[in-house]
Amino acid sequence: MKLSALDIYTCPECKGKFEIVKTDSAEDQEILEGTLKCRTCKRKATIRKGIPALINQGNVKGSDLKFQKFYDRISPVYDPIVRFASRILFGGDIAFRGEFARHLELKPRDKVLEVSVGSCGNYPYIGTFTGQLDLFGLDISKNFLKQGLKNINRWKIDAQLCQGNADDMPYADDSFDCVFHKGGINGFTDKSKALAEMFRVAKPGSLITVSDETENMFYTKKQFKKMGLPSFEELGAPLDLIPEEAEDVELQQTGLGMMYVMKFRKPLKK
Ligand SMILES: C[S@@+](CC[C@H](N)C(=O)[O-])C[C@H]1O[C@@H](n2cnc3c(N)ncnc32)[C@H](O)[C@@H]1O
Ligand SMILES: [Zn+2]
Repeated sequence: MKLSALDIYTCPECKGKFEIVKTDSAEDQEILEGTLKCRTCKRKATIRKGIPALINQGNVKGSDLKFQKFYDRISPVYDPIVRFASRILFGGDIAFRGEFARHLELKPRDKVLEVSVGSCGNYPYIGTFTGQLDLFGLDISKNFLKQGLKNINRWKIDAQLCQGNADDMPYADDSFDCVFHKGGINGFTDKSKALAEMFRVAKPGSLITVSDETENMFYTKKQFKKMGLPSFEELGAPLDLIPEEAEDVELQQTGLGMMYVMKFRKPLKK
């Protein structure tokens, strides 16, 4: 975790700012192991391998909890499975992830947040066409983040990862030039809260892009149920849950109609 990220991180309990109370590896403005403490409610958060745990685990409920356990279990095999599936279905990762990245309207030096970053598989594709970005990633699954960290180290991509819940994000208001999400919202306990959080942490004028499966996805709700996961009652874009103040709402289908891309913009302050 970079020291500069302290300007953006907020306490998941009370939204207060953190200070560092313990660090044994402050090198080059980077903390690998340590503890943060909220200046307001005094809650502590540990940092392991540079990843702060900024989650209120007691509040993780319903399908969020099921998916957290599921993704913790499958994180080691997720990358090869998705690579294989995207080759068969969409002609490979460049087509699958690169096509999505084109929606993001990125500019060099943008501060970018991926909500549910998983193993960071989108990062190589968004970086390639914009050069330098200030990347942040949040995920509910600790094991998925470990996998993500291995990947970004291998790819030499710099990103500030943290464990957190999409419906209660540990970031200050108006922090990011771009907020995006791909592949988890169908299973969220509270989609509406997660969309409101994406909107809150985006800077005025910035674009929020959300993508997940449509009901045309090749695997069925039944298969999810067999794996002990909540069957998604409503696959597809939650257009009706976008915050009312949002502008430029857009919906497209992609990936042979199996994925949607939903975009909306936080208005500039008047
Ligand atoms: C299918 S993976 C997609 C990962 C990555 N976005 C990608 O495109 O490869 C879904 C991700 O959503 C995360 N996730 C599920 N529920 C979440 C929640 N409530 N808050 C944050 N992340 C969540 C999972 O841990 C997992 O990493
Ligand atoms: Zn606090």
